[in-house]
Amino acid sequence: EISACLVGSEMCIRDRVVSLSVIAFDFRFLFMEMAFIWLCIPFSDDDRGVHFESIHHIKQKKRRMNMKYFTKFLCLFLGAAMMLTMAACGSKSDTDANAGADGEKKQLVVATSPDFPPFEFLDGSQIVGIEPALMQAIADKLGMELVWEQVDFDSIIPGIQAERYDVGAAGITITPDRQKNCDFSNPYFLANQVIVVNPGSDIQGKADLAGKTIAVQTGTTAEEYCMDNGYSVLSFASNNDAQAALTSGKADAWVVDNEAAARMAADQSLTVLDEAMTSEPYAFAFAKGSSLVDQVNTALQELLQDGTVEKLFQEYDTVYVSPLS
Ligand code: ARG
Repeated sequence: EISACLVGSEMCIRDRVVSLSVIAFDFRFLFMEMAFIWLCIPFSDDDRGVHFESIHHIKQKKRRMNMKYFTKFLCLFLGAAMMLTMAACGSKSDTDANAGADGEKKQLVVATSPDFPPFEFLDGSQIVGIEPALMQAIADKLGMELVWEQVDFDSIIPGIQAERYDVGAAGITITPDRQKNCDFSNPYFLANQVIVVNPGSDIQGKADLAGKTIAVQTGTTAEEYCMDNGYSVLSFASNNDAQAALTSGKADAWVVDNEAAARMAADQSLTVLDEAMTSEPYAFAFAKGSSLVDQVNTALQELLQDGTVEKLFQEYDTVYVSPLS
């Protein structure tokens, strides 16, 4: 019982370890059952064939009875204490158990950088876009509740590694380097990098980028691409600032993912060059070994198959491009 209680309290501390919770969950019922059986054992000593009762004998019997009552109540007490511990921690042993005993849903902390329309952007103070909608559909399937954290793009993966966030949903491209630091869901979209310039710019394609100053968002695949190609790069924590560097003339070009480029360039009447420089599957990022990957993949697969994902893209006026295409 005590070891099961310990498992229960450890759950409070390490609530992401689903396998532990499965063990604790089973212990709970095992011990409740044992307590029940113990309660059903008759109290009487008659079956031992004791018929002659001296005072001494009666006293002994009384003591034994007291002992029995004591152990039964101890058993019950520990069982109840364990139930309470488990209830307080919330049960997480399977999909249904994402809702705790008291009906509270398991929280899923999602990190994003809402400077990337149509995938995530701010509507007032609310984070909206394709990914918040998609994550919500996934959370609904898993019986979880989303908690959004707004951060700079380059702190999403380190935050996931440090287990500050459960998921990264930020138009994150799967790359071999990132795969060393985190696990990814299956991809759900295919994007590419494009060049954005001011109207009338002499830059007409990537061949013209040499010797120019290029604005990018810090920690993105755009930054990686430009650095790998030896361009002179100006990096900004926010994608909006990278764009502003172009409009203000600090940078000659801005390299960014195609859908964000189309959306943000239209607002400022910038020119998006028609050249896909990379091919980038987007996926959700998780800590290495996270048990959430499988759960999210199952939900995502259903949403891809029943057309929900495509519909979400349509709602945000975006043509859906399958990563399998
Ligand atoms: N797809 C690119 C990457 O993974 C850019 C993502 C930027 N996302 C954002 N929410 N600002 O690096």
